[in-house]
Amino acid sequence: MTERWALGGDLDVARIGYGAMRLSGWPGGPRPDRYTALAVLNRAVELGVNHIDTSNYYSHDGVSANELIREALHPYPDDLVIVTKVGALVEGPDIHRPAEEHTGLTPDGLRRAVEANLRTLGLDRLDVVNLRMGVLGPSDESLAAPLETLCALRDEGLIRHLGVSNVTAAQVAEARRTAPIACVQNQYNVAQRDDDPVVDACAEAGIAYVPFFPVGGYQPLTADHLNAVAARHGATVPQVALAWLLARSPNILLIPGTGSPAHLEENIAAAGLHLTPEDLAELG
Ligand SMILES: NC(=O)c1ccc[n+]([C@@H]2O[C@H](COP(=O)([O-])OP(=O)(O)OC[C@H]3O[C@@H](n4cnc5c(N)ncnc54)[C@H](OP(=O)(O)O)[C@@H]3O)[C@@H](O)[C@H]2O)c1
Repeated sequence: MTERWALGGDLDVARIGYGAMRLSGWPGGPRPDRYTALAVLNRAVELGVNHIDTSNYYSHDGVSANELIREALHPYPDDLVIVTKVGALVEGPDIHRPAEEHTGLTPDGLRRAVEANLRTLGLDRLDVVNLRMGVLGPSDESLAAPLETLCALRDEGLIRHLGVSNVTAAQVAEARRTAPIACVQNQYNVAQRDDDPVVDACAEAGIAYVPFFPVGGYQPLTADHLNAVAARHGATVPQVALAWLLARSPNILLIPGTGSPAHLEENIAAAGLHLTPEDLAELG
């Protein structure tokens, strides 16, 4: 795995990272047993992953992604970059309340979330904190006030770089007027390309674009043209989906989520799958 990106300009990461949400089963779904979860995290790092995406709110029925990461990997390798997120959805019970009652975007909610991430990960400073805006998808509200709160926490030394998540193109522009932005994390994959303009704007600005649901999220990608390209290369559809993202733009960093050691190996091996111009044309 050789392709790399300087996240925030100074954090050197491999372009294939790992998303830890699935390890917790949050918000309610299958998850691996503890032994397998710890093995997946250790194997990811062995295979060269040094960018792990997580959040304190990835916690369900007493199983927390952050605590698993800490148990598996602390003391952390010097080059490991752990990216967390705070904001909408940060307070577990908020998920079931109307949006206007959510407390995650208030100054107190943001501070509590940053402190909870520091505590559960066993860190003095968080490498990158994404401000998550939309609850179920992007909304148009201003992100200036919560981002300014995070800037103050950064200036206190609790955060190194800031990013934004579940945001519109207008919110990305507003964020960039408010603070230096290291990364944008939105839904995007070979079958869901609404965010094409945001990918390109980020590339232009030297900002990493980190798609969530890179292999389809809750609905694994499947389509005849994906199957055809996969068959030509003796690869799997998730590998084609990941290789397409790597080819799409050099600022795209991958964080596929899995609780399966075999899928982890497969996803990381996608770095070796080079799609031809014919493949890319077929994928549209
Ligand atoms: N900012 C946000 O709002 C937001 C939202 C969602 C997610 N995220 C982040 O983005 C990361 C990635 O998203 P995600 O995990 O939801 O979606 P994803 O990576 O697109 O898909 C994960 C699903 O695909 C399966 N899978 C993964 N690799 C596979 C393979 N090689 N073959 C077959 N199935 C495979 C996994 O099941 P198995 O466990 O069986 O492999 C899991 O069910 C998350 O872990 C989280 O860190 C952020």
